[in-house]
Amino acid sequence: MSRHTFLILGAEGQLGKAFKRFLASYDIAFSAPQEKNCDITDAYNLEKIVKRASPTVIINCAAYNAVDDAEEEKELAYMINYTAIENLIEICNLHQIKLIHYSTDYVFDGTKGNLYTEEDETAPLNVYGQSKLAGERIVVEKAHDFIVFRTSWVFGDGAQNFIYKLRQWAKRNKVLKISCDEVSVPTFVDDIVHVTLKATNKNLGGLFHLTNTGYASRYEWARHVINTLDMDHTIIPVPMNTFPCKARRPLFVPMSNESLSKELGIDIPHWKNSVKQYLLAL
Ligand SMILES: NC(=O)c1ccc[n+]([C@@H]2O[C@H](COP(=O)([O-])OP(=O)(O)OC[C@H]3O[C@@H](n4cnc5c(N)ncnc54)[C@H](OP(=O)(O)O)[C@@H]3O)[C@@H](O)[C@H]2O)c1
Repeated sequence: MSRHTFLILGAEGQLGKAFKRFLASYDIAFSAPQEKNCDITDAYNLEKIVKRASPTVIINCAAYNAVDDAEEEKELAYMINYTAIENLIEICNLHQIKLIHYSTDYVFDGTKGNLYTEEDETAPLNVYGQSKLAGERIVVEKAHDFIVFRTSWVFGDGAQNFIYKLRQWAKRNKVLKISCDEVSVPTFVDDIVHVTLKATNKNLGGLFHLTNTGYASRYEWARHVINTLDMDHTIIPVPMNTFPCKARRPLFVPMSNESLSKELGIDIPHWKNSVKQYLLAL
């Protein structure tokens, strides 16, 4: 199915786990070292791992994703989301390896009032978004062979996603307050994996938006989860500023996946269908 050999970095995260599951199920050659053996900020060790694995494609799922903590851990956020990426690019260029890297909708400030395309101006509101923007820029500038995918509201196997948190809150409360003015696109790791591998097999290059289709507020997303799971909770829509956070967040940042869909000749599933598929498999 694939002529490539993959190295997965950040293999214990939501997306990394989905890649491992998929590649193993199709008998595609890959290595996926655990984070304790493969800290991407350790350039020397990273190069040793790359040489040993001898991949044709590196899929970098590793990232510093703690949006609020990043306000106080700026240096660490930049070390993982920018400096480590610069080192990774050097290794990829030296060994003629294609680099697949992921960025975020938080590179935008949310003021456009319409779906964001790849041509839109970036203007991140928080340190996390700034560090991810620095990372994607260095890939675009320096990597010889790359794809950067901007994605959003990723959900899959893990505790650091909205569906997991919602189900935890729902265990303790019958009434849930969820923000209705924060809008983006819930995106399923399995869809990211399928589209990434399709793009890799087609030898695509460049920066693309990879989200599920459609968009939603957190409130609409929560209602869809509660309804799909046949739960009888009450959900109250509230403004995002009901929940004070350290990091500023953009309000309306859904991205259009049209450019990528056209390039690959595919329809990327609607977020509602993918959420349902994920929940029914739990
Ligand atoms: N999650 C979202 O909603 C979202 C939204 C937009 C974009 N994205 C992007 O999508 C990509 C995949 O995200 P995800 O949801 O799969 O994230 P995730 O579940 O947080 O996984 C990231 C993984 O990277 C690991 N990691 C952190 N620092 C590392 C280091 N120095 N060396 C090696 N590994 C390290 C983390 O380990 P620890 O857990 O031990 O730190 C974690 O296993 C990332 O680029 C992310 O920025 C995610």
